Amino acid sequence: MSTLPTGKDGKDGTERKKVTLLTLREKRKQGVPITMVTAYDYPSAVAGERAGIDILLVGDSLAMVVLGYENTLQVDMDDMLLFASAVRRGAAHPFLVGDMPFLSYQADRAEAVRNAGRFLREAGMDAVKLEGGSEMAPTVEAIVRAGIPVMGHIGLTPQSASMLGGFRVQGKTAESARQLLDDARALQEAGCFSLVLESVPARVAQWITEQLEMPTIGIGAGKGCSGQVLVYHDLVGMFDRFTPKFVKRYAETHATLVQALAAYKDDVEAGRFPADEHTYAIDDAEWQKLAHAKMGFAP
Ligand code: KIV
Repeated sequence: MSTLPTGKDGKDGTERKKVTLLTLREKRKQGVPITMVTAYDYPSAVAGERAGIDILLVGDSLAMVVLGYENTLQVDMDDMLLFASAVRRGAAHPFLVGDMPFLSYQADRAEAVRNAGRFLREAGMDAVKLEGGSEMAPTVEAIVRAGIPVMGHIGLTPQSASMLGGFRVQGKTAESARQLLDDARALQEAGCFSLVLESVPARVAQWITEQLEMPTIGIGAGKGCSGQVLVYHDLVGMFDRFTPKFVKRYAETHATLVQALAAYKDDVEAGRFPADEHTYAIDDAEWQKLAHAKMGFAP
């Protein structure tokens, strides 16, 4: 029998509860690290559910790791909702966050609120995430006013990588670190319930975390954040086009998959698959009937 948590029970055998904003706030208060992983489809959601992960983020990183684009700009709301609803079907307990794709919230505030609402109404998400600092505070405020929890995201914000001069560490100077803190405060003030800090020096991320009430979730931001997030495909070793310094691989799934496919190919070519146990039988009597009915062949 599997020793994995089923998703129905807590690890100590008690009934497992749905993670909510209150759970996250309590973890932050108690200093218990929050775990977050991206998920893009039913199998990755089920894996996150069974592992007991707190937050599943349907990240727009799916543009790169699932769809093979060069950056995250290529996906739109319809793409994100398709993946988000698959995640919803696979995960009952984690808190679910839908990542607002490029141009779904930057151009128009009312459109941002409507698009955020679609994540909750059409895909069953619990919250949305959007990228940007104080310039996004009025948009965050409008979405929160509509009753939709918002997670912020500052530091390296992939949707504006071009403006940042590429995928580079942010907040490495005193001035830019100070700006990150101002952004974080503005987002908290606007109503964000949590904040992703991406590719920020560890000392800066810890300093920002200490100034905030909301939990921070770090990716490439050291252990001083209130929680951590990794991209699923990086974590399980399924994406090897490039691996950022901050990734720790916990499995080599891609290599395992290639081995499995190559073994299947060998078996088929050598006549070892399918074997008897993979094959359906017809009763002898039925087989004889077929022959007697002169179906044009002899058994
Ligand atoms: O899209 C994504 O996966 C993200 C995480 C890296 C935080 O935004």
